[in-house]
This record gives sequence, structure tokens and C-alpha cells, in this order.
Amino acid sequence: MNQTIQRIGERERAYVQQVLDSQFRSSAGGLMTKPLEQLFAETFDSRFAIAFVNGTATMHAALAAAGVGPGDEVIVPPLTMASTAFAALHANAIPVFADIDPHTWTIDPRSIAACITPRTKAIIPVSIYGLSPDMDAIMELAARHNLFVLEDDAECFLGYYKGRIVGSIGHASSFSFQSTKHMTSGEGGMITTNDEELAERIRRFNSLGYAAVGAAAGKGKITRETIQDPLYERHASIGFNYRMPELCAAVALAQLERLQELVDLRIAAAQLYAQAVAGCGWLTPQATPDGYIHSYWTYVAHIAPEVDFSWYDFRNKYKEMGGDGIYAAWQLNHLEPAFRRASFHPEQTQNFDRGLCPVAEAVQPRLLQFKTNYFDPAVAEQKAEALARTIAYFG
Ligand SMILES: Cc1ncc(COP(=O)(O)O)c(C=O)c1O
Repeated sequence: MNQTIQRIGERERAYVQQVLDSQFRSSAGGLMTKPLEQLFAETFDSRFAIAFVNGTATMHAALAAAGVGPGDEVIVPPLTMASTAFAALHANAIPVFADIDPHTWTIDPRSIAACITPRTKAIIPVSIYGLSPDMDAIMELAARHNLFVLEDDAECFLGYYKGRIVGSIGHASSFSFQSTKHMTSGEGGMITTNDEELAERIRRFNSLGYAAVGAAAGKGKITRETIQDPLYERHASIGFNYRMPELCAAVALAQLERLQELVDLRIAAAQLYAQAVAGCGWLTPQATPDGYIHSYWTYVAHIAPEVDFSWYDFRNKYKEMGGDGIYAAWQLNHLEPAFRRASFHPEQTQNFDRGLCPVAEAVQPRLLQFKTNYFDPAVAEQKAEALARTIAYFG
């Protein structure tokens, strides 16, 4: 990686132009959505891919399609972007927070096991910052307790877990194309799955419950003649309109066609940060176990509790040294006001408090998220040098 690349290039523009030129006449089936879904399914080693407006609607639809409903429990990690737990609430279920592993910061299968009750229906493991959770252990638990596993891979594109691409292991997987993600269409999302019946239910949920939709991209199950019949019954089930707009699909398709390049630039930036952090006794990066390939949505490191300076001192000094404003890891979901007492349904009673996830509570306030999406490699180098100077300053 030694050249500046354009985040939005010629091909993205050309595909958008094609959609505009089509005057939106190619609606269902989709000029861009269909090839996007087909290439996405192929890339992520899955039989089906279904495009969505965002990577939250994806999870709502997948949970609903898997039969998760009122009173059911969905196990999620607390260290994630809030959409993971919101999706459980959107499906009228109850998010149950399992703790994280102290080294990888992904959901800990031992804690998941301790959270399982007769009401548990699903688990949403999150590939936080671009690193897969321990999927073998999670799938084994799920098989034993008959649970639905929905991967939340919003932050993980072309990551690998023991030789398998992340997004092909759970019963379904969710991706986001929101503007900070490896590939983007401004907003957007995708579900992958190998289960044809589930794919059909997901697509129906995302398309107002239309009876005509099938599992595969652009494949309707009913003839035009039937659909035109005045007595035709269109809506087989209750659904939302969560479909991805064609203009977004145009951008997403062009991004997917050069996804490796977009991922590689993040990995290259992460490697520079890793060199800067190497040997520092009080800054520990997210641990990547053997057999995992991290896709580095961000590069995240933990400040040891023994140091005599604060998270804010570090951030301020890094900025002074030429670094960017660092993001903290987001507040743990169970401590957010929205989740502490949330209720979408009479059977949802929640009263979360500190102490529920002790590992996450100890780790989260000390995490630093460094940006990896520098499209000019010289800028990535400057930021890594700023990090090295900051580390040297604190000693
Ligand atoms: C882990 C995680 N899950 C879900 C989402 C939600 O995706 P979206 O913003 O597309 O709804 C995001 C990011 O936005 C995320 O980082």
C-alpha cells in the first residue's frame, strides 16, 4: 500500500449514473441490487445474500425470521455498537448481556453458557473492531441448546476464523455499509445465510411481507399474470420496508468489487500502529488468536490500570503529537439509559446495573480506538509516528 486511493472512485460514479439513466424502471429484482447480492453471497461463501437499508434492520429481520419474539431472550455482548442489543428489542425480545473475553474483547462463550435459560432463543456474537469471536465454541453451545446464531459482522469484512470467512459460520450473518465501514454506500446492510427457508422469510420481512419474493436475488416465485389478478393476495406475512435503495446498491457493488483493496489499507494502518505499540508495557492491543485474521475496522489498545495518567491525558497528548481525536470504546450497552430500563413489550422487564459484566466494565473505559481508514498511506504513517512519540512521552 503506497498510493493514495479514492474512497469513492470512477466505478462507483459510473454505476450510480447507470441507475439514474435507468430512471428507476428496474425496481424489484434490481439493476444493481441483484448483482450486489450475488457477488456478496459468493464473496462470503454463502448461498444467499439479502440487501437492506442498514445493518440494524438486517438483525431485526433475521431475528424475526428465526422466530424470535415476545418474552424470548437473545444473548449479546455489552461491548458493541448499540444496534446489536436494539435488534433484540426491535424483535420484542429481551437482550441478555454476556461478558467479554479479557484478551480478545469478543463475547466469552463461558459467559454465554452461564446466561442460557429456557427462554433463550438466539445469540448474536459480534466481530468487534474486525475480529471474529470464538465461533466453534459458540456454534457448539447453540447446537446443544437449539439456539439461533446471528453473527454481527458490521465491523468485519474479509476477516477469517480458522480458515473460514467471517460471515459464513453462524446460521445468518449481518453486515453494515454505514459510512465508517470497510465498504460503504452511505447507509446499507446485508444478511448472508445458507438456509433457503430462512432467506425467504428474511426477504419477505424486508419487503412488506410480499408473498412473491423468493430466497435468491431477484427471483420472484409468482408470475406477473398472477400478481396482476385483482384477487391476488400480496402480503403473506407482516413485514417492514427495509429494502436497500438502488442508488446505494450501485455504490455498494462498486465497493464490493474492490473490497480487498479497501480492507488491505486498514490492515496496513493497523500494522503500523502495532509496530508503534510493540514493546510498550502498559498498552495492550486486542489479542488476535492463532488461526484468526483480523480485518481491523479500527485498531484498539488497552491502557493498563497501573499507569499514573488518564485516558484523557493520553488522548490529548496524542492529538498534540499529531494524532487524530481517538474514539473511546462506546459505553457498555447495559449501562446506557436506553437499555437499563427499556421496554417495547409488557414481557420485557429490564433493570441492568453495574456489576453485570465485570470484565467488560473493567476493560471498556481504558480502550483507545485508533482510526485505520486513511486513504493516503503517508497519513497513516504520520499517525503511527504520533502514537510512537506519545508512548515515548509517557515512558
Ligand atoms: C457492531 C455493529 N453492529 C451494528 C451496526 C449497525 O449498523 P448500521 O449503522 O448500518 O445500522 C454497527 C455500525 O454502525 C456496528 O458497528
